[in-house]
Amino acid sequence: MAHNEGGGTGRRSAHWFGAEGRSGMLYRSWMRNQGFGAEVFDGRPVIGIASTWSELAPCNAHLDRVAEAVERGVWMAGGFPLEFPVMATGETLLRPTAMLYRNMVAMQAEELIRANPLDGVVLLSGCDKTTPGLLMGAASVDLPAVMVTGGPMLNGKFRGQDVGSGTHVWKFEAEIKAGRMTAQEGHVAEGCMARSNGHCMTMGTASTMACLAEALGMQLPGSAAWPAVDSRRMEVAQEAGQRIVAMVEEDLRPSAILTRAAFENAVRANAAIGGSTNAIIHLTALAGRLGVDLPLDDFDALARDVPTIVDLMPSGRFLMEDFCYAGGLPVVLRQLDEAGLLNSDALTVTGRGMGENVADAECWNTEVIRPLDAPLQPAGTGTAVLRGNLAPGGAVIKQSAASPALMSHVGRALVFDSPEAYHAVCDDEDLDVNPGDILVIRGAGPKGYPGMPEVANVPLPAKLLRAGVTDMVRISDGRMSGTGFGTVVLHVTPEAALGGPLALVRTGDSVELNVPERRLTLLVSDEELARRGAEWLPPESADVSGYTWLYREHVLGADAGADFGFLRGSRGSAVPRDSH
Ligand code: FES
Ligand code: MG
Repeated sequence: MAHNEGGGTGRRSAHWFGAEGRSGMLYRSWMRNQGFGAEVFDGRPVIGIASTWSELAPCNAHLDRVAEAVERGVWMAGGFPLEFPVMATGETLLRPTAMLYRNMVAMQAEELIRANPLDGVVLLSGCDKTTPGLLMGAASVDLPAVMVTGGPMLNGKFRGQDVGSGTHVWKFEAEIKAGRMTAQEGHVAEGCMARSNGHCMTMGTASTMACLAEALGMQLPGSAAWPAVDSRRMEVAQEAGQRIVAMVEEDLRPSAILTRAAFENAVRANAAIGGSTNAIIHLTALAGRLGVDLPLDDFDALARDVPTIVDLMPSGRFLMEDFCYAGGLPVVLRQLDEAGLLNSDALTVTGRGMGENVADAECWNTEVIRPLDAPLQPAGTGTAVLRGNLAPGGAVIKQSAASPALMSHVGRALVFDSPEAYHAVCDDEDLDVNPGDILVIRGAGPKGYPGMPEVANVPLPAKLLRAGVTDMVRISDGRMSGTGFGTVVLHVTPEAALGGPLALVRTGDSVELNVPERRLTLLVSDEELARRGAEWLPPESADVSGYTWLYREHVLGADAGADFGFLRGSRGSAVPRDSH
């Protein structure tokens, strides 16, 4: 037996529930206070259901009901399901940013899976960070695992039009600032935008990560797109519950699924769906858990042959409900396969290769999921990786969300040491700013903020908005919401808090953005930069204790997925020492 986890008694869980004497009595007796009969300890697979349910993470608030469907499936297949909570991170409420806690989600999932009598696990996620967090934790234990994301909200509907969560918040904000919409109308729109359970229904980070969990082979085919309130979401959850029991018997583990081939599929799928730039951070961190080599430049290189074919906001017109009815991700993956852009042998949770999973996928709406030869955006216009003296460790830009006219642009830098410093002046009538300027928003990296928040796509200065300006180049070491848009250079590495070149830019410097040539250049001499670097002092931090201290001490750069250095790799699923 490869992992020697069941000892002489078979399963891992048998170390608890199959134990003799006082220990065994202790393990079983307390569980029976939930009304389980003695037969559940007969050696059947024990399946954990790791749920990020929380009313404080509204996108995950229905996961308790998804868990019931999973439990049903586990019972049907002869397993013993046990649901347990993992910290939920909701994008909308958590301050200073949900991203600060993604690694904590991963730590909780990893430790709870390993410390408990589990043979396999079903991962229930929804909002942005919960999906990568659970995958990272599960990968570092490497017990059989299948993911079920909670599904998107129904399309937002406002005044007869589809409105997308996130994307329309930015649009409404600009409309209100420009005087084209009243605050009262904005309040009405709020309720219309979020009208059912589920996560954001744009191709934001949540939908992106749900699709990529599927592209990686970690959730059942078609899972990502079913709306949260569609009964077929519960069907697929039940199916996952049945499937995990079989996966335990097959000993099918994440390390067999999350290979370099799977990551290549995910990177290409992300380009095809017009997915979030945050996927780069999360896939990089996940790959680090498995020891899979996935350098930043591969995101550009692998995606260069892949056009964006899914016409969803923020890059396009439609929303996840439409994507679902058009056939969902299997249609995208089948098209990639037919074009030779899918590693079709990559193993998935079905026990089959990805190509076989999606071979019969049919497209029911070619406006929403276009053919590869009539794409929304041509190949090579997805997320680009930039290099240059302003970003020696790399930076990224989502071309499909940017303005073509700004893709090659030289402008005067207007520098702000924090997003707050910008917000304090951005509505000033006498702010010295021109449409051709480049807004530099720094101090928003993993260590600097801390937590690398989604603040890079700051709203434009009010006076320019009123003058009809719709986009400007912005450069930041922070992230952008997957629902956001604009010509925004993100994830600049090294971040300003580490004294990288971004920390040395001054208002009035010239900066050149050249996306076709993948360059980001600060037009200042090396000598001058060296002089400024010698004078640079690191920003003071008030965090001397607590989780934020731990985070600052151990977080890696964006180019390593902002994981903690000490969490990289897998620590396996060996049964820990007895507690009694
Ligand atoms: Fe939770 Fe968008 S805020 S998915
Ligand atoms: Mg329950």
